[in-house]
Amino acid sequence: MSYKEIIAKYADKPGGIIEAYHAIQREMSYLPIEAVGETAEVFKVPVSQAYGVATFYSMFSVKARGKNIIRLCESAPCHVAGAEEVLAALEKELGIKVGESTADGKFALELSECVGQCQATPVLTVNGKPYFEVSPAKLTGILAEYK
Ligand code: FES
Repeated sequence: MSYKEIIAKYADKPGGIIEAYHAIQREMSYLPIEAVGETAEVFKVPVSQAYGVATFYSMFSVKARGKNIIRLCESAPCHVAGAEEVLAALEKELGIKVGESTADGKFALELSECVGQCQATPVLTVNGKPYFEVSPAKLTGILAEYK
């Protein structure tokens, strides 16, 4: 589905802009600037407001990025439980740093705040799906699901 079709689908819904942005990201993994402009037009808001929403929330990206978004929680409980070692292993396995995407366009690596799953730290999500008690040894298996 194109971003135009997605935006049109959410045009009459309350909270439609955020819902539309989520749906576009599920489809394209980021919010192209053209989609932000289209959103402003369809929702009849200034472009600055549509852009403001797109850049305010950390889960949205207006920069092109890898198809599968890996987000590692960096809040204190996950940090104490070894998120740093997981991050180092992820960067090595993917060959990228936080904020980058793999050359094949398959993965983007980001950090997140607590995702409310502190009972099973460290936690990472891939496209919003959580993985618990993650360790460097578990990463190959997790990533293989998305290759
Ligand atoms: S601190 Fe990581 S899930 Fe809560």
